[in-house]
Amino acid sequence: MEIFAHRGSSGTHPENTLPAFMEAAALPVHGVELDVHLSKDGELVVIHDEKVNRTTNGKGYVKDMALGELKQLDAGSWKAGNWHGATIPSLAEVFGVFKDTRHVLNVELKTDVFPYAGAVGKVARLAAEQEMEHRLVISSFNHLDVREAVHHHQLPGAILASNILVDIAAYAQAVGTKRLHLSLPYALRHGAELIGKGCEVYVYTVNRLDYAEQLQQIGVSGIFTDYPEKMLQELK
Ligand code: G3P
Ligand code: MG
Repeated sequence: MEIFAHRGSSGTHPENTLPAFMEAAALPVHGVELDVHLSKDGELVVIHDEKVNRTTNGKGYVKDMALGELKQLDAGSWKAGNWHGATIPSLAEVFGVFKDTRHVLNVELKTDVFPYAGAVGKVARLAAEQEMEHRLVISSFNHLDVREAVHHHQLPGAILASNILVDIAAYAQAVGTKRLHLSLPYALRHGAELIGKGCEVYVYTVNRLDYAEQLQQIGVSGIFTDYPEKMLQELK
């Protein structure tokens, strides 16, 4: 079962920052998940929420700030004082961390609240420029963007879902992928059945070993965890 560091090594480092990604890059995990928004000046930036409030010392929407303004913010101190000075990275900077590794990068496009026009194309272009397109997976709760990644850019796409849907296997086929990134409760209830229907199931966020073992037993393809190092050590 593949292990992905969720938002980098986010249990021990400030999520979606270079320290969290550098930590993950040094681990023999399969890949890393990260969240992407667009700044006011159209740059791809790596942060989870629509607002900077929770994970920085600033206030306001990412979409209302230019990259230069976002870069002034401290994205480390909220986690612990010793992370002072960590910043919101651009997607290009994060790709740079993994340039010489073999990790798969799962770019989660946060286009379900604000649509961020052109975001899929920008990720595809950057990945091609940095020769990362062969180890990229695009996921989103905005399935129009997953379809665009698959059909217009020939990138692997994954449907993110937490609401339990009537026939997600058929739906995934319509979007153009077999790959489902499901919440833990969804996967525990329906994962085995969906794997039986030919879906590739990945599960977020799995921080407990007993759940990881249970998911491994039913044939889940991968998990996203905030504690990748611990999971690597403990999961047989
Ligand atoms: O991509 C898996 C997971 O990260 C989706 O939810 O809210 O943690 O981005 P969230
Ligand atoms: Mg995410």
